[in-house]
Amino acid sequence: MITVASKPEIARMRESCHMAARVRDELRERIRPGVETRELDDFVVGRLSQLGGQPAFKGYRGYPANICVSVNEEVVHGIPGRRVLKAGDLVSVDMGVLFEGFYADTAVSVVAGSADEASSRLMAVTLEALRAGIRAARAGQHVSDISHVVQVTAERAGYSVVREFVGHGIGRRMHEDPQIPNYGDPGRGQVLVEGQTLAIEPMVNEGVPGVRVLEDGWTAVTADGKRSAHFEHTILVRKGEPEVLTSLDGGV
Ligand code: MF3
Ligand code: CO
Ligand code: CO
Repeated sequence: MITVASKPEIARMRESCHMAARVRDELRERIRPGVETRELDDFVVGRLSQLGGQPAFKGYRGYPANICVSVNEEVVHGIPGRRVLKAGDLVSVDMGVLFEGFYADTAVSVVAGSADEASSRLMAVTLEALRAGIRAARAGQHVSDISHVVQVTAERAGYSVVREFVGHGIGRRMHEDPQIPNYGDPGRGQVLVEGQTLAIEPMVNEGVPGVRVLEDGWTAVTADGKRSAHFEHTILVRKGEPEVLTSLDGGV
């Protein structure tokens, strides 16, 4: 089923997504050496409660925390806890917000302290893959046109894309149709329509594409132990370039 938002629904998605963007940008400033990952979780809980929103991940399929914090070879769904961030750690934070019935979903990768050349390039390419995916998400295009440009952008740079996790429709539920893989041939899947809201989220690995899930049942790590980066925005499909809902200045 394609969910298309009406005008008042779009207004509420925008509010929910702006709240998520604001807290995400405040959160990224707190990713520093010496910080325990659970402090990042605590910050989001406190900030969202001030703003009147709710963290969306807690309890989702039994997920035990409020945000995901995935470090270095951790790809996604890292559970925040007592781990202390070290200088040079590549940290991906993913957060979901529920506000007045509408979900926002956004993720960024940042390095704690100063970034080495390899991590900087991995993050830059992952962000570029997200940008390319967003540009492809226009009414009349197919879902897999997004997938294709994400894959090409990552692989052209010598990296690989994760296959096990996908982007998705989002709105009154966090995960809606369609699924948006980060790989594939163009011209397949649903034709996008104006008013659809989507979460686009490339996960790009330095080495092999494969991942495995740790004993905690959640944390996905790269099969070869090399680093991974993750960026995600919630966007609104339009005739031309989409509106990036989880951006405060419209940029990616
Ligand atoms: N936010 C993730 C996504 O980008 C899903 C997190 S699942 C949870 O789709 F269980 F951690 F909440
Ligand atoms: Co997310
Ligand atoms: Co998502």
